[in-house]
Amino acid sequence: STTDLPDGGGADFLVVANRLPVDLERLPDGTERWKHSPGGLVSALEPFLRAHSGAWVGWPGVPDVEVDKFADDGIWLHPVTLTSDEVRDYYEGFSNATLWPLYHDVVATPVFDRGWWDAYVRVNQRFAQACAQIAAPGAVVWVQDYQLQLVPAMLRDLRPDLRIGFFLHIPFPPTELFMQLPWRAEIIRGLLGADLVGFHRPGGAQNYLWLARRLIGLEPSRGAVGVRTRPGVVQVGDRSVRVGAFPISIDSSGLDTTARSREVIQRARQIRADLGNPRKIILGVDRLDYTKGIDLRLYALQELLEEGRVDPSEVVMVQLATPSRERVEHYQRMRGEIEQVVSRINGEFARVGRPVVHYLHQSINRKELVAFFSAADVMLVTPVRDGMNLVCKEYVACRHDLGGALVLSEFAGAAAELTSAFLVNPHDLDGVKNAMHAALTLDPAEGRRRMRALRRQVLTHDVDRWARSFLDALAPANQESLTQT
Ligand code: ADP
Ligand code: G6P
Repeated sequence: STTDLPDGGGADFLVVANRLPVDLERLPDGTERWKHSPGGLVSALEPFLRAHSGAWVGWPGVPDVEVDKFADDGIWLHPVTLTSDEVRDYYEGFSNATLWPLYHDVVATPVFDRGWWDAYVRVNQRFAQACAQIAAPGAVVWVQDYQLQLVPAMLRDLRPDLRIGFFLHIPFPPTELFMQLPWRAEIIRGLLGADLVGFHRPGGAQNYLWLARRLIGLEPSRGAVGVRTRPGVVQVGDRSVRVGAFPISIDSSGLDTTARSREVIQRARQIRADLGNPRKIILGVDRLDYTKGIDLRLYALQELLEEGRVDPSEVVMVQLATPSRERVEHYQRMRGEIEQVVSRINGEFARVGRPVVHYLHQSINRKELVAFFSAADVMLVTPVRDGMNLVCKEYVACRHDLGGALVLSEFAGAAAELTSAFLVNPHDLDGVKNAMHAALTLDPAEGRRRMRALRRQVLTHDVDRWARSFLDALAPANQESLTQT
């Protein structure tokens, strides 16, 4: 596919994210290969960008590598180099030990380190410069996520001709928590460089508008922000910045098609057989992150087993956990805790050759994942806070058979859309246990009714619709009226 990509001129449509959709992997024998990058941002944007052709600016996932731009399956990838100090200070430090916990309701304590902030500024500047060099005159540049919140303003300084959008893939926190950040005004100002700032939920947009007033002294519009409609507006000099809510989604029909394939259906059957044909399979699929509530669902299972409400000879749980941010302390601690409770459950309730919890600290390929979704009777998605959570939508998209049951945390953005799930407060362990029990003993007709409602939502609100609604709102007002008439 390299050959059908034109190489002349700059890019008209550019996505910039901390990570490229592929990660460079260095094997022990010294060879290198590219593999699919972890996380929801890449899962969502990659199919969209490959279908619409564009360029992607991002870090190749390992320190100190200099790679030239290259074409990959329909898109140009432009690698940005990070040194190992920058990986430590900008990525592991400011992005993932300051902003990540702060934006996720301080479920872990954020660290405020001035050296990390300096690295964040420096790396954001490098991304802005890379975009400025690559973008064609008047191009659309779509900046992604919390790692790059200063890029919109930096890029506007370098290239005032560009149309700049920004989307935050994680929650935007309550204003009281955001106010803790020593660099709060700088972040708000960085985002104001965009023409459109997007969040998953109207609440995030509203918090941002409040902060633009409070911290920068601007006069934002006061009306309630809608979902995909009625964005707020802030006037910054002669520019208006729109601020809206655009709940992200998945390639629903792609997953639906994969799940219907003979190969996946057979593999799902094989997985069930490999697990010993249990009456019920419970599944968890997450990056190994302390926001995901993996520990919590294991504690819930442990108590259900202890109380005899779940029979270990009938129920098997599979937890797939992608390794993530492994050098950050909070992640190390959470991993230790999860592995301890897994072995405790198995120590108490397993038999030889029949563990109750199968725990894989691994990333698995797409088809295999779809087979797991197809095989799972109960899907547990229990984050204590999550911007959207795509795993729950993926599960629903895979259940064309209307089988399965979804237990979903109210604290995931997706809960606003997936109201026919078993919604739980993840802080209420008894509530989680009751929902798990209800899902395990669900009447099939009731299960089909719920799944049909969930599928209606997920199949009609896919990632294409998300991207189109964002990019339409990003188009200049005059262009919008042209397309309307
Ligand atoms: P986050 O972006 O915080 O990781 P999301 O739920 O939005 O959370 O997205 C996670 C993405 O990573 C989904 O597309 C999911 O299928 C994928 N994923 C999670 N765990 C695994 C795993 N163990 N193997 C393969 N893919 C995984
Ligand atoms: C979440 C974030 C993404 C990030 C992904 C994986 O989805 O919103 O920006 O890429 O997690 O995390 P990582 O730190 O490995 O890029």
